[in-house]
Amino acid sequence: MQFLASEDLQRLLTASLAARRHSHSPYSRYAVGAAVLDEQGVVHAGCNIENAAFPQGWCAEATALGAMVMAGGKRAMAVLVSGPGPDIITPCGGCRQKLREFGDDNLLVIAADPSGVKQTWTLGDLLPASFGPSHMTHNHREPA
Ligand code: THU
Repeated sequence: MQFLASEDLQRLLTASLAARRHSHSPYSRYAVGAAVLDEQGVVHAGCNIENAAFPQGWCAEATALGAMVMAGGKRAMAVLVSGPGPDIITPCGGCRQKLREFGDDNLLVIAADPSGVKQTWTLGDLLPASFGPSHMTHNHREPA
């Protein structure tokens, strides 16, 4: 498992909980925040943004990864996702795959709620035997 400095954990928790307060979740009333630590040590945050046309909403992790990309971050080292509790939040399947685009098996995935950090996994725990960018780097085309 990757090492995470306690200051970085605290920055992620603060940013994720602050982002959660921006959640646009009038339909589920399940507010989520996410904060991603990039390879430069910069934190990028986002919330879930729902839509009256339900399938058009998206998760907090997607907003945070978009913020990271737009700020020039290349790699996700850790992500802290915060939900309302009491059940421990865990990224949905689609978000695990989105995280995989910018992180490897060692990416730390931390679950929290307003009372603090609840559980930590690696992305490898949550998305084993994943399909990732390296699958696309080889000449994989079938002959015509
Ligand atoms: N949600 C997230 O934003 N991230 C997660 O990790 C789990 C679920 C959102 C999607 C939807 O807006 C609400 O939580 C209820 O599913």
